[in-house]
Amino acid sequence: MDAQTALIESDIERYLELHQNKSLLRFITCGSVDDGKSTLIGRLLYESKSLLDDQLGALDADSKRYGTQGDALDFALLVDGLSAEREQGITIDVAYRFFSTEKRKFIVADTPGHEQYTRNMVTGASTADLAVILVDARKGILTQTRRHTYLASLVGIRRVVLAVNKLDLVDWSHGVFAGIERAYREFAARLGIAHVVAIPLSALRGDNIVEPSGNTPWYHGPSLLQHLEQVDVDAHAEAGPLRLPVQWVNRPDHNFRGFSGRLLGGRVKPGDAVRVLPSGRQSHVARIVTQDGDLAEAVSGQSVTLTLTDEIDVSRGDVICAADDPAGLADQFEAHLVWMAEQPLLPGRSYLVKLGASTVGASIGPPKYLIDVNTLEHLAAKTLQLNETGVCTLTLDRAIAFDPYAQSRDMGGFIVIDRLSHQTVGAGMLHFALRRSQNIHWQALEVDKPARRRMNGHAPCVLWFTGLSGSGKSTIANLVERRLHALGTRTYLLDGDNVRHGLSKDLGFTAADRVENIRRIGEVARLMVDAGLVVLTAFISPFRSERELARGMVEAGEFVEIFVDTPLAEVERRDPKGLYKKARQGELKNFTGIDSPYERPEAPELHVDTTRIDAEQAADAIVEYLAQRGIISATH
Ligand code: ADX
Repeated sequence: MDAQTALIESDIERYLELHQNKSLLRFITCGSVDDGKSTLIGRLLYESKSLLDDQLGALDADSKRYGTQGDALDFALLVDGLSAEREQGITIDVAYRFFSTEKRKFIVADTPGHEQYTRNMVTGASTADLAVILVDARKGILTQTRRHTYLASLVGIRRVVLAVNKLDLVDWSHGVFAGIERAYREFAARLGIAHVVAIPLSALRGDNIVEPSGNTPWYHGPSLLQHLEQVDVDAHAEAGPLRLPVQWVNRPDHNFRGFSGRLLGGRVKPGDAVRVLPSGRQSHVARIVTQDGDLAEAVSGQSVTLTLTDEIDVSRGDVICAADDPAGLADQFEAHLVWMAEQPLLPGRSYLVKLGASTVGASIGPPKYLIDVNTLEHLAAKTLQLNETGVCTLTLDRAIAFDPYAQSRDMGGFIVIDRLSHQTVGAGMLHFALRRSQNIHWQALEVDKPARRRMNGHAPCVLWFTGLSGSGKSTIANLVERRLHALGTRTYLLDGDNVRHGLSKDLGFTAADRVENIRRIGEVARLMVDAGLVVLTAFISPFRSERELARGMVEAGEFVEIFVDTPLAEVERRDPKGLYKKARQGELKNFTGIDSPYERPEAPELHVDTTRIDAEQAADAIVEYLAQRGIISATH
């Protein structure tokens, strides 16, 4: 019986206490199954006695039946067995395995090594303190070794173990090991990874895994487990400045107002001066409240509730900072982005960005460049596809508190969320704020919207027609404009085909180009609404996201979405420009309804069913609606 088991049996309280106070090392293993990754993880779990009896029993039986190691245990079967289930799933997540020794607790993230699993590796690595990069001694540094190292460095890992495995297959050659180590150090240094420990291993035979091996007398460093137990886990978060993103405002009654969250940096004591971002208001810490009573001090990693000496406004998502060293505050950034969704990044689309406790609307510009993760070359690109990484400009709807990722993973790391599906579509790292946005202000002018409204005698709005090509948007919009004009309304009609001759001359019909087209129309419509006009827009505008974006650009009540609903079979029958025919014959690509999607409006203000009413009746109904809403005065 080992010491841990003995202690569990004799004094469980003491065991739990020791266990709780042990430090935690999070690491990721990178490599493919062929490099011996499964064997290595299996052996670490086995040697640290982290396996249950039934797992051991199954391993023993499986080893005899399927194993490649004679009567010995085949550790690869253990981890592969654990992985099999998840690899059948559609999305392969990261497998986190837990084990502990007397000195430390460990969480190891295990992700498949192939390029199509880049997003999984980035997820697993983003919380790791260290990466174990596996290399097969017979093969040396490969493209994937460089890719794994780059991704590890990208997410801020500064400590690497270069596990040179299968040394038994090269006769324990010191020369081979030293050659691989030299080449790797050179490469890692270029990525800013200074801390590399190279260890010669045979995961299969157990050499240098736990005990130093007699087969490598020329190696004087630690075994893998020794190193993992000793390596310094960054304690610098505590030395940094105070950061407390407020998760929730705790207000049980009028006498108590506390701000709860986890300290992401620094330490805090009652009396400390703090500055709350984004408001910039200052105060002092009154108390540090926890379930077990007040604290005299709290440090990074602890979850606490702070009360302040002044009644200042603090909401969820705000960040309480050290007054003398607050976080930055900005709404535009340069950032690295790893794209994680099947659907590519659509520059200009409005996504949600979650950073710390804040979630804000954001648009992402086209990549400045894409990074080839195998060669580290910078390439030109219009978008990012699944698993691609690049540098982009990120523009948020409002300013948030942040620190550069290099200083704080928590305050500089973010995820990108699709507004409609709520899926995580990307992960990123903020580098620095761009000052441009801070120097551009919205000019307050004296002749304003209310003034123009009084002169016009009607309110402005956008009549946003959407529907398939040939559905009748332009025809109906035309009739509506004629009627409004006759009633003395100031109008302007923006039409798809016309705008594409000028404003959007440079755009085609890819999803990305349509997003940009609609974004521009939305912006122009916004200016025209400000000018006091009733703006009519007739664009397919096939995506819900961009219609919502356009809606958000004007005030509530100013956006009237009109769904011109004509079935595909009917527009194909009409085919006024002969385009459906061309599309069916494959001469026209990305044609809406044929090989490019149309997302039907879910709750349009008006739904025009063209199979039941004709264009004249539709126009009447729309004008009637505007009169009812008080946008124009009564029509008769
Ligand atoms: S949108 O998708 O960006 O809103 P928009 O309304 O500007 O499209 O342009 C649609 C018009 O462009 C169609 O009515 C049709 O005449 C023409 N067109 C040419 N190619 C395509 C295509 N691939 N898909 C849809 N419309 C196309």
